[in-house]
Amino acid sequence: MYLPRHLAIIMDGNGRWARQRGLPRILGHQQGVEVVRGIVEECSKLGISWLTLYAFSFENWGRPEEEVEALMELLATYLRNEVPTMLKHGIRLNVIGDTGRLPGAVATMLDESVERTRSQTGMVLTLALSYGARDEITRAMRKLASAAARGEVEPEDISEQRIAAQLDTVGLPDPDFLIRTSGEMRISNFLLWQLAYTELYFTETLWPDFSPDQLRQALHEYNRRERRFGLTAEQRSKEGNQEEGGRH
Ligand code: IPE
Ligand code: IPE
Ligand code: MG
Repeated sequence: MYLPRHLAIIMDGNGRWARQRGLPRILGHQQGVEVVRGIVEECSKLGISWLTLYAFSFENWGRPEEEVEALMELLATYLRNEVPTMLKHGIRLNVIGDTGRLPGAVATMLDESVERTRSQTGMVLTLALSYGARDEITRAMRKLASAAARGEVEPEDISEQRIAAQLDTVGLPDPDFLIRTSGEMRISNFLLWQLAYTELYFTETLWPDFSPDQLRQALHEYNRRERRFGLTAEQRSKEGNQEEGGRH
């Protein structure tokens, strides 16, 4: 089986999972964290090189204060519990998003966790926190405009590579495969630039019910996709259709 080199997941449906059980939303998020643990471990075992999880969007700041606070606490607990596991599995933690908006204690913990796992050589686990793709692109444009104003960049030198280098995802390959749970068929401001040629996969399963088995099912579907990148099928098969993925 060919694996996506970079798998990205929009983990959606925690609230509905809780509502279906007559529970407060936060219990859905708690169960969601349990599923994160299992899926991270499974991806690392399978040999996926980059896993990016959409954990908290820029727009999610607009949710009720109690929910935002509870999510921040869950994040802190997750980091406290999981860094030792990351170290055990060789996982390197990375973060994208406007993390300056996170509560100070969480931001510090995040910095420390990234630092502690910095020399790990296995899977790179990127958490998208306080992340919005338009915000990311806006911040990147500001950096480029400042460099231009200082005379460090000429407008004609602005290339796709230069733009990509200013994004939070610098150093990560574009996702090969995106999974969104909970049946919503939208991107919700996730990785707009980077998803240009990503294969998209939507499942009705709510995130707290998503299992390693369903992950494998999704990866099988990825194997059936024919990625053409704008070329003809004949050109692509000459180039070796799946060279961007790793053989498993
Ligand atoms: C995804 O679940 C988790 C976050 C956005 C933090 P939701 O909380 O969006 O769950 P639904 O979509 O309301 O069911
Ligand atoms: C996207 O889910 C963000 C995360 C999964 C973190 P949302 O629940 O916030 O997205 P919408 O509101 O349904 O588009
Ligand atoms: Mg949702």
